[in-house]
This record gives sequence, structure tokens and C-alpha cells, in this order.
Amino acid sequence: MNIDVKVGRIGGRSGDTVVIGVFQDRPLEAKDAAGIDEKLRKYVSGILGYGDFSGKEQTTSLLYPDGEASPSRVILVGLGNPESFTLETARQAGSLAAKTAVDCSISEISTLVHGPGDSDASVEDCAQATVEGALLGTYHHTAFKSDENEAIGTLDRMTIYSGSKAAVGNVRAGATTGQIVSQGAIMARDLSNAPGNALPPRLLADAARKMAKSAGLSCEVLNKKDIEALKMGALLAVSQGSDEPPRFIIMERGTASKKRDTLVLVGKGITFDSGGISIKPSGSMEDMKHDMSGAAAVIGAMQAIGKLKPTLHVVGIVPASENLPDGKAMKPGDVITAMSGKTIEVINTDAEGRLVLADALAYSARYKPAAVIDLATLTGACVIALGDAASGMMGNDEKLLQRVKMAGEKSGERVWHLPIWKEHHDQIKGRTGDIKNSGGRSAGALTAGAFLENFVDFPWVHLDIAGTAYSDKLSPYGPAGATGEGARLLVQFVRDWDRDHK
Ligand code: BES
Ligand code: MN
Ligand code: ZN
Repeated sequence: MNIDVKVGRIGGRSGDTVVIGVFQDRPLEAKDAAGIDEKLRKYVSGILGYGDFSGKEQTTSLLYPDGEASPSRVILVGLGNPESFTLETARQAGSLAAKTAVDCSISEISTLVHGPGDSDASVEDCAQATVEGALLGTYHHTAFKSDENEAIGTLDRMTIYSGSKAAVGNVRAGATTGQIVSQGAIMARDLSNAPGNALPPRLLADAARKMAKSAGLSCEVLNKKDIEALKMGALLAVSQGSDEPPRFIIMERGTASKKRDTLVLVGKGITFDSGGISIKPSGSMEDMKHDMSGAAAVIGAMQAIGKLKPTLHVVGIVPASENLPDGKAMKPGDVITAMSGKTIEVINTDAEGRLVLADALAYSARYKPAAVIDLATLTGACVIALGDAASGMMGNDEKLLQRVKMAGEKSGERVWHLPIWKEHHDQIKGRTGDIKNSGGRSAGALTAGAFLENFVDFPWVHLDIAGTAYSDKLSPYGPAGATGEGARLLVQFVRDWDRDHK
């Protein structure tokens, strides 16, 4: 989709499809919206007067005004109450308007920025959110469809009008950021949606390399020999049941320096999780192709970070492996030695995510990071605790937890803080080895967090995205399947850090 930003009155072109956001039970206050209403001789406000369209959130109405040189269609989209307006409202409105257009085979729309003026949100942020909604809302995963007729339409062009010259710079900046961030989230969705046979660790690494090249990042991929040389015993143990060798992917924006902080983003990259010898039941096992969604979020975020060029050193790390049963696979009861030297008693081979993360987190220490965030579809327990309404957040640094929470709220990827207490550490004390990779069913998300905490000696946050990374129903701005969860949060977090640590 091409995105243009123009100064001037929206609706000046005949044949246009014009999108106007309407707050609930309010007249068209915003100058830009009132302008088009004037031009259409109060057509829109007349319709609002009938009460047919109240402006409730998640509602839309398609109008066909009559008259010369007027837009041929007007899409009204509800913004709800101005008091409860957030960037998420703008995102959802942007999505609904774009989807309404696509449903009518309309390929170009003109829109106003949803929300600013009537809310506390800035023009730039609202423009970003409007663009994100349109791009993410019209996303479809068609890479594996052979019938072209199945390809669902998308918008070719969206023109954003800014009524004032003063604001156009902010609209443009927001629109550009929105496009870059959305492309990152879409990359994450595409990777997560790819089937396991199409994206084993080898090919996930190739995708990361290709992304890095185009986004101006450096990328290093460690193969099995390199991983052995680093003594990453936990990652190796997970991969030993598969014919596909593991990969350890390192993407880098900028370089380490005394003047700049290093942030490390780690994503669980299990390209298929069968459970291994502790094999999963077959119902919904196909969803475990999404078990590299943490990796997908990191790779997508790194693409956006490469394009946004923060003055920081940002490292993206993905430990990638399959988890399969085999004669050579790791077994319950096995004791393995992680890169850090700690010994891990494998209680359940299906608790493989924490094993590959243990080595990735230990590796991260070499960057002397100011902060490390890991993302992982780690536990079914987190899905039970929070469902798909938020990712579980754990960590060891109050300030960092707060920053991640804020980035989650702003990006619309909400997180909820869960504790890691001494009790959770006690629950995973090993009998034969130092620690066990499972503490049983109770507090399953928290004992997973406690396990990871054994491998960090830096400010760290863990996000369990098991409940948010994919969905079997469509969401306000995405179809069923991968959501790309985490990519937008990570980009927001990095941008905020960049702003606050100059
Ligand atoms: N990838 C799964 C977690 C998962 C479950 C993600 C459902 C998305 C939806 C993870 O590797 C796993 O199997 N975890 C086990 C841990 C247990 C054996 C301690 C779980 O949650 O059951
Ligand atoms: Mn598992
Ligand atoms: Zn897993």
C-alpha cells in the first residue's frame, strides 16, 4: 500500500472515497471533517442528525453522496467517546475503514487522521496509529495459496489529508513510522504463519539474514559447530532429536560504545514444537508452528529498528531449533549442562523453550546490556492466566518493567506483570541437577520465569506471549492466525529508550 500525506481539504477529488472519524453523539467538530461536510452541503451532519450513525466504536457506515465534484463515497467510522479515546481506538478505526473499503473492492481511500484535537493524543501518534490500523487490518497471509482468486484485495493507496500546514510535518512523521512499524509486525506475522516444513531453523536464519541486509543491519548466524564450540548444551539438547540442525541468529543495529546503551532482544525460535519425547496430544498440535513467534517479533522489530535508525546499539538474538521425538532425542531425566555451566534436569522435554532461552540469555551477557527483553510462547499456563488479552510479563528490575508496560500500552500490545518469588525458585530446585526444567502445573508461567532468571545477571524482562501470539478468531486489526505480537511493543520500547537516554 502506498501512503501519501497531503496538505489541504479532504474530498476535493470527485470519485474519491473519503474516510471520516466521528466521535459518539458529537457534531463534526474537527475542522477538517466540518470542511467536507460544508462542501457536501451538510450531507454528513444531516445523516448524523437522523441518528442512524451514532459514532460508537467499531461501527461504520458507507454513504454515497450525490453531486458534482464530490467524493463518490464517504466511509464514516466510529471513534466512541472522546474521553475514552486512545491510540488503540485510532488503530481499530483505521482498520475498520480500510476493511470496509476493501470489502467494496475500493482500492484507494483518502482519510483524515483519527482522533487528534478531540483527545490528548498527539497528531503524530494518531497518524501512526491510523496507518497501523489500515496496514495491519488488511493483512492476509496468502503465501501458500495456489489459487490467485483466493487472494483477498488490499488497498493500493491511502492518502492522508492534513488541514493545516503546521501539522503536516507531524502527520508525515507519524505516517512514516506507522508504515515502518506495521511492516515489521507484518514480517513477524508472515514468519509465524509460515508452516514448520517451510521454515526450519536453517530457513528462519536465511530470512533473518535477508531482512538484515535490506534493513541495514549486520547479521551473524552460528551453525551447529559454532554452537557446540560455545557449549550451548541446552540449545543442543533440544535440537538433538531433529534432523534439522539448530541455528543461533544474531542481528545488530549499531555497535557497542561507551556513549550508547546496548539493548538486547531475544526471541524463542522453536520452528515446530511437538513436545519431543514428552509428546503433545495431537489436537491443535499444528498451532505449534507458531512456537517461533518470539523470534518472529524480534526479527520484525529489528527490521523496523534498522529503518528507524535509533542512536543505540540494539542486538536481536534468536536461538532456533525444532523439538521432535527421535532415538537421539533428549529424554526426561537427562541432565544437560547449559552454556552458563548450570546443570539442568530435564523433567519434561516439552519445556524446551526455557532451555533454548537459557543459552541465549547467558550469551546476551557478553554485550553488557542496559536491558534485555525476551519474548516467548513459553507456557500454556500463561494462556490460562491471561487468555489473549495480555502477555505475561516478569522481570528483575522495577524501572524496566514499568518501561515495558508503558511501551505495551502505547503500542496496543498490552502486558500484565506477574511475580517471580522465592517460592517459584524453590519449586524448580533439581534433585540430580541444579535446576529442573519443569515445576509442575501450579504457577506454570511463573516457574518458567524463575527458571530463566537463573541465566540473567542484567536488567531483564520476560514476556510470555503464548496467549497473544496467534488466535483462531479475527481481531480488530488482524485475521485469524499470527498476530505479530511483540514486534510493535519492542519498537516502541527502543524508540522510548532512545528518546530518554540521549
Ligand atoms: N510452546 C509451548 C507453550 C505453548 C502452549 C504455547 C500453548 C502456545 C500455546 C511450550 O513449549 C510448552 O510446551 N510448555 C509446557 C511447559 C510444561 C511442560 C512445564 C506447557 O505449557 O505445558
Ligand atoms: Mn513445548
Ligand atoms: Zn514450545
